[in-house]
Amino acid sequence: MSHIRLIQVETYEEMSRLAADRISAQIQRKPDSVLGLATGSSPVGTYQLLVEGCAMGDLDFSKIRTVNLDEYCGLAPEDPRSYRYFMDYHLFNRVNIEKKNTFVPDGLAEDPEAEAAAYERRIESMGGVDLQLLGIGHNGHIGFNEPAEGFAPNTHVVELAKRTREANAKFFDRPEDMPRFALTMGIGSILRARKILLLGGPDKAEIMDRAMHGPVSPDVPASVLQLHPDVTFLLCAQPPQKRK
Ligand code: GLP
Repeated sequence: MSHIRLIQVETYEEMSRLAADRISAQIQRKPDSVLGLATGSSPVGTYQLLVEGCAMGDLDFSKIRTVNLDEYCGLAPEDPRSYRYFMDYHLFNRVNIEKKNTFVPDGLAEDPEAEAAAYERRIESMGGVDLQLLGIGHNGHIGFNEPAEGFAPNTHVVELAKRTREANAKFFDRPEDMPRFALTMGIGSILRARKILLLGGPDKAEIMDRAMHGPVSPDVPASVLQLHPDVTFLLCAQPPQKRK
């Protein structure tokens, strides 16, 4: 039996508001929370609302620590296509978080396997993730855990699936610039989070349904979330409205 709660709303703005409210409640309840964060278009509105909450004095990030799900191999932190850049731009540079308390896997690590192992140890040494935010890929990937033979327990190096590379190629000038490898938290790393919140737009409705109600299988990595006791899926019926 799936424990996953599904909340369906009409607009992207409503979805972002619900997600931001849950994250805000977590921050207020435990000011030194470890937040697991995600990139992609789904959480952008949520981050914007957290920035506003901080500007209004309702939220204090000074003791918050963050760990991001994933990063492309080969991209520098200052590369606008890197996930470190995305997080700095959308959240970290706009709230009172200490940069040294924000962690994203190092895409330039000389030894990516060693970086992956060190990243996992870091999450553990921080006491684990209190609240993990997730998006979902069209193939059911979470972080960059692509459909595979089995579930990866820990942070690891992954070769990106063709479908993922096609979906994300729009962020790169030439398709050949799209990295082939990434570092990602494993399925085990994600499941060890105490609470999980997954966001998706209308193009994700079908895969979210399979993840919730289909068999638990590494063919649809997000289906493993059925085994976690505290997961909420937020699905919005409309894509984000273009900003004027
Ligand atoms: C990328 C990220 C995933 C994210 C996915 C969905 O592949 N590595 O962590 O969940 O995009 O992105 P979007 O929210 O833009 O649909």
